[in-house]
Amino acid sequence: MGKKRVTSGMRPTGCLHLGNLLGALTNWVRLQDEYDCFYFIVDWHALTTPGGGAAVGYENVGELQNFIREMALDWISAGLDPDKCSIFVQSSVPEVAELHLLFSMITPLGWLERNPTYRDMILGYKIESPSYGLLGYPTLQAADILAYKGEFVPVGRDQEAHVNMTRDLAQRFNSLYGKQVFPITETLLTEVPKVPGLESVEKKMSKSAGNYIAFSLSEEETTEKVKSMFTDPVKIRKDDPGHPDGCVVFAFHDIYNRPELENIRGECEKGKRGCVACKMQLAGSMNRALEPIRNKRKKLEEKPEMVEEILRAGSERARNAARETLREVREVMNLPPRKDY
Ligand code: TRP
Repeated sequence: MGKKRVTSGMRPTGCLHLGNLLGALTNWVRLQDEYDCFYFIVDWHALTTPGGGAAVGYENVGELQNFIREMALDWISAGLDPDKCSIFVQSSVPEVAELHLLFSMITPLGWLERNPTYRDMILGYKIESPSYGLLGYPTLQAADILAYKGEFVPVGRDQEAHVNMTRDLAQRFNSLYGKQVFPITETLLTEVPKVPGLESVEKKMSKSAGNYIAFSLSEEETTEKVKSMFTDPVKIRKDDPGHPDGCVVFAFHDIYNRPELENIRGECEKGKRGCVACKMQLAGSMNRALEPIRNKRKKLEEKPEMVEEILRAGSERARNAARETLREVREVMNLPPRKDY
């Protein structure tokens, strides 16, 4: 009782990688002790873009269910605990769709057209003919958050515009209907480590760039990925002095071998550390950190009915909260009450 509500979601993109783990999930896991957390896999949002190739979208729905299951597995093995938080699939809560519809009536078109991520998505995914659903992406996101009266949303900077629009929409709704139905949601920005891509410290690790380490990989596969990381190109022999600051391996030592970092830097710069040994050390630490996640994943993979039960229980809790909100929403908007709410 009395815990504040946190909501957040991720699009089911297939497999999660170290960027998602270190950037979002580790933080979500931390929050579940302190807040009443609702975490959802946003399958409707996955349909706002056409997709194609390995990416799901409205033209490419074949892998959608698969990706949802994989994401649930990744989340739980990374430490989301169904006894502490609610884990579910967005589309199993139809009340969110109803709220999205009602919000769409009061969302000024200008807000959506000015949304910077709308432009970014069109350019990034090379979308020739953006859909009504894509334009309405932030309205659906607002419905995700506000159906559960989410007070805090842990997301990265790239999502700040969406959370701001959620807040604007809540205010607009509350003032139109003269009742504080919705809270004024805040972004929970946390400092997260920068996770570079395998090919450059200048790039972010991302699914679409293909420069990632999925945390469902085996120990051997992970080691292979570490071996493929970009290192200082002018350091050819072990005793050549290296330049750790542009080196991807060094950037990962900063995450996985923090206490030894200055030592590693010194050895590299003085030509006392070869890149192969340096990579093997990193692979060792990374694999040690990932081992508990892998073990948990393996156990869960053998019990698909357990994951289904977790999602079912999560969506039941979510529906109960959303029904309560929709009952209030319908009442202040003077819509006839529904017997099932
Ligand atoms: N737009 C978010 C992203 O791409 C995903 C998302 C959908 C979300 N609904 C949400 C995040 C609600 C937080 C809260 O990362």
